[in-house]
Amino acid sequence: MKFMLDTVNLDKIRYYQSILPLAGVTSNPSIIKKEGKIDFYAHLKKIKEIIGSADLHVQVVGKLQEEIEKDAQDIVDHLGKETFIKIPVNEEGLAAIKSLKSKEFKVTATAIYTEFQAYLAIAAGADYLAPYYNRMENLNINAADVIYAMAEEIKRSSSPTEILAASFKNVNQVNQACRNGAQAITASPDIFEQALTMPAIQKAVTDFHDDWRETFATEKIYEL
Ligand code: E4P
Repeated sequence: MKFMLDTVNLDKIRYYQSILPLAGVTSNPSIIKKEGKIDFYAHLKKIKEIIGSADLHVQVVGKLQEEIEKDAQDIVDHLGKETFIKIPVNEEGLAAIKSLKSKEFKVTATAIYTEFQAYLAIAAGADYLAPYYNRMENLNINAADVIYAMAEEIKRSSSPTEILAASFKNVNQVNQACRNGAQAITASPDIFEQALTMPAIQKAVTDFHDDWRETFATEKIYEL
């Protein structure tokens, strides 16, 4: 599994970069809005400095194929050809994905709510598919089933495309995405916090620590 952070908050990226086996950072214009009117490329360059060789996925804003392709070119001109360009899978987006893949751009097909969008993006050569787990559930779409079908199609067509599941509101949704075939997930820092700061984990750590101290009258193995 690859784990990515769905945020552009520099403090959170710095913090979790030291904790997680971090494979990348993803964003979209709504995530960027949360940081205010940042100096966009300067900010993303700082993220690149923090994450080193991990991947950066940056979303286009243009709606028409031509605008999407211009956004993609601008992004790689500023951030490098290795940057993954996130493109929503609608008619204009799919045309742009097809065209950009023929020019060797790295592409993450995003805003995926249905198997059919995924099948088309796989056939168009997208590197990653980003199905929107929580948003699917809000529409009464079985997100786990959709991801399973996407994974089956990737196997059937021996495609190098990977599933980068996104849009999570809780840890169980992440588990379901992984269990049903996602090779990667991106989640906001609070999902990782929920997963790693469960009171039950902390109680186990405290109990082990206390038992050790009561037995050996020291808190450290290296002080024995
Ligand atoms: C990926 O980067 C997606 O854009 C993102 O996970 C969507 O999340 P949301 O449904 O919480 O807006």
